[in-house]
Amino acid sequence: MANGRVNLKGIYKRFGSFVALKHIDLDIRPVEFFALLGPSGSGKTTTLRMIAGLETPDEGVIEVDGEDVTFAPPAVRDIAMVFQNYALYPHMTVRDNIAFPLKMDKVPSADIEPMVVRAAERVHIEHLLHRRPGQLSGGQQQRCALARAIVRQPKLFLLDEPLSNLDAQLRLQTRVELKKLQRSLNVTAIYVTHDQEEAMTLADRMAVFLDGQILQVGTPDEVFNRPRTIAVASFIGSPPMNLLPAILEGSRLTVAGHVTELPYTPAHPGGAVTMGIRPSHVRLDPDGLATRLYLSENLGESVLLNLYLDDHLVKVRVASFAGAGEDESVAIGFEPEAIHLFDTESGLRIPTPQD
Ligand SMILES: Nc1ncnc2c1ncn2[C@@H]1O[C@H](COP(=O)(O)OP(=O)(O)O)[C@@H](O)[C@H]1O
Ligand SMILES: [Mg+2]
Repeated sequence: MANGRVNLKGIYKRFGSFVALKHIDLDIRPVEFFALLGPSGSGKTTTLRMIAGLETPDEGVIEVDGEDVTFAPPAVRDIAMVFQNYALYPHMTVRDNIAFPLKMDKVPSADIEPMVVRAAERVHIEHLLHRRPGQLSGGQQQRCALARAIVRQPKLFLLDEPLSNLDAQLRLQTRVELKKLQRSLNVTAIYVTHDQEEAMTLADRMAVFLDGQILQVGTPDEVFNRPRTIAVASFIGSPPMNLLPAILEGSRLTVAGHVTELPYTPAHPGGAVTMGIRPSHVRLDPDGLATRLYLSENLGESVLLNLYLDDHLVKVRVASFAGAGEDESVAIGFEPEAIHLFDTESGLRIPTPQD
């Protein structure tokens, strides 16, 4: 029974001498919302295009529901894709744009109209069917592209940064609707984004991409709370966690001469390590480390302090701040149970008891 599992095994992709993907392995489960998250140029779109059949790998195998589709053309893969620029046909009405994949599939014409109307209703554009894309707002064009993708009820739904052309408020609203839509369709969705908040909120699981490789696969909770490497830690979170050089001796962690006693003894030989701490887990502590206030940013619901500890910028989120002025001293401490540790050499996470 076809259900929308996708396996990538040892995928390599080169463009000339440039290696765009280096050994990509993925197991995307039926009906999950799976995000490919990473900075621009990290290989997300190339991976998605390969699943769609728009690119072929130089090495490796792609399977959909256990069937090898590595070199199968897009049309036989039962996949719908929504592109960043929507790729609507400008000379066709919304109705004809949505109907297009059905006509390609040779669906009987009597069946097409009700399917088009149903897809349009799901994304609330049923009143716009007579218009052309040029007569729609950006948000309406995006919905038209979504309707065209879901009209066939494909087994895989691929989306490449589908919200990036919307303004901030519409993006948040559409994000919620997209998640609801995917749940109601009961279809596997693979979603490319460079926006970690989108990945965190939408995805059941995600893969973090950097430089053509996958750094970590996990739930949003795992990736946020247990980043596997320094590279993941420095990418996830807004702002991401602070990463500071530290010395580990047993359960004693020393940062810039200031000792924090950890509530456990890490399984690590000790010595020079990298400490990670999120901005909301640094507190103001008169007995703590002396830093210099560079700038405080009032975010309304909190204040983000930019502090310098020697040459290291440390970001600290506090509920309110009426303290020092710029260039004055601010003393900070770290919540011991919220500290992440990484082996500086390998970049790998040193497990905590919660791991
Ligand atoms: N057709 C192509 N020819 C040459 N280089 C390409 C091509 N497609 C992608 N690349 C390169 O491969 C890398 C990954 O691209 P892409 O998968 O689009 O990244 P992302 O979607 O994560 O931003 C980039 O450096 C990009 O310039
Ligand atoms: Mg891309």
